[in-house]
Amino acid sequence: MSAARSDRLSPALQRMAASQTSAMNDRASALREAGRDIISLSVGEPDFATPPHVIAAAKAALDAGETRYTPVTGTAALKRAAALHFARDLGIIAAEPAQVAVTAGGKQAIFAALAATVREGDEVIVPAPWWVSYPQMVRFCGGTVVPLETHAGDNFRFDPTRLEVLITPRTRWIMLNSPGNPTGAVYPAPMLEGIAEVLRRHPHVLVISDDIYAPLSYTDAPHTTMAALAPDLGPRICTVSGVSKSHAMTGFRIGFAHGSGWLIEAIGRLQSNTSGNPCSISQAASVAALKGPQAFLGEWREAFRRRRDLVVAAVNGVSGLSTPVPDGAFYCLVDAGPLMARYDGDDNVLALHLLEHGVAVVAASAFGGRDGFRISFAAGEAVLAEAMRRIARALC
Ligand SMILES: Cc1ncc(COP(=O)(O)O)c(C=O)c1O
Repeated sequence: MSAARSDRLSPALQRMAASQTSAMNDRASALREAGRDIISLSVGEPDFATPPHVIAAAKAALDAGETRYTPVTGTAALKRAAALHFARDLGIIAAEPAQVAVTAGGKQAIFAALAATVREGDEVIVPAPWWVSYPQMVRFCGGTVVPLETHAGDNFRFDPTRLEVLITPRTRWIMLNSPGNPTGAVYPAPMLEGIAEVLRRHPHVLVISDDIYAPLSYTDAPHTTMAALAPDLGPRICTVSGVSKSHAMTGFRIGFAHGSGWLIEAIGRLQSNTSGNPCSISQAASVAALKGPQAFLGEWREAFRRRRDLVVAAVNGVSGLSTPVPDGAFYCLVDAGPLMARYDGDDNVLALHLLEHGVAVVAASAFGGRDGFRISFAAGEAVLAEAMRRIARALC
């Protein structure tokens, strides 16, 4: 954007960059439209069809005339279903509908929680590599991002003692994301216990626990979230979930925040003056998603596990590339450190090189990482196998 045009932007927006994952996806789409054969592994979206009973519920809502405003933070039916989901699927047994705000996707739940609470100069601790939008949202709200570095050798998990060192009187939030984007890191219960111990010593610190990938965990242990494990910290935790990733409903734009009354009210105040209620039809469909059959989630998880195994084996078979085995979500963060000299040490140049060879991935630096790229393995096995062949050819 020209200097003159950027002068018209608010200081808040000037601090926010556009999402690089969306940018790569747009670039891949443009090349496809120009007739190029591009496999896009850049977007975080399940390739499965939205379940038929969810589609049927959306149609029924339309036929029943559910086309009007709903309560700003969601219908009573969806708040009940979301409370059921927080209790049944995330183990937050005391979850109540009154502690739920329904939002336009998990993204909006996180943004609203931050926008409602972050004051100029507040610090937000974000484990890196991070989901692209966390730091952008924090900066927009006037906060300072404090990275908590994690490394492939530790499966991208951090030691809670390293978290404590970063806490200051200005720390407002810590972001937790398990299973995580872009690393697939899953925080096991002992690690969460350690984080809880640290938090008990710092009562001014709030926690966003982004559990949007909870059903996609490939470890034997059940999914664990902070609010379930440490109910005494419940009043300081905002747990975020949604149906986008779990039920292949990305376009419906429904997410949920679970937290203390004051925070839910604050999110509602913001939402009432900005977006208003989330889409009424999507809300009806989400009730069906949460209250209907859940068995297919296990089948999808197994499909993702097979895809993960395929991608990890292929990556580690290419000289100069390596990745740990991601324990959850549908991402694999690949290290290409030994090859970076060929690409001027810039992983965006590497990503463009792979795009030239027919595969769209996102540079690790977009996620606060370096010297590599993220693969989204939310694509069929044949497509993934072909993409991995192209990557191997491009780098040989
Ligand atoms: C870690 C993480 N949190 C939240 C979201 C938001 O999901 P949505 O707004 O589509 O529900 C995403 C989407 O990519 C994500 O990767």
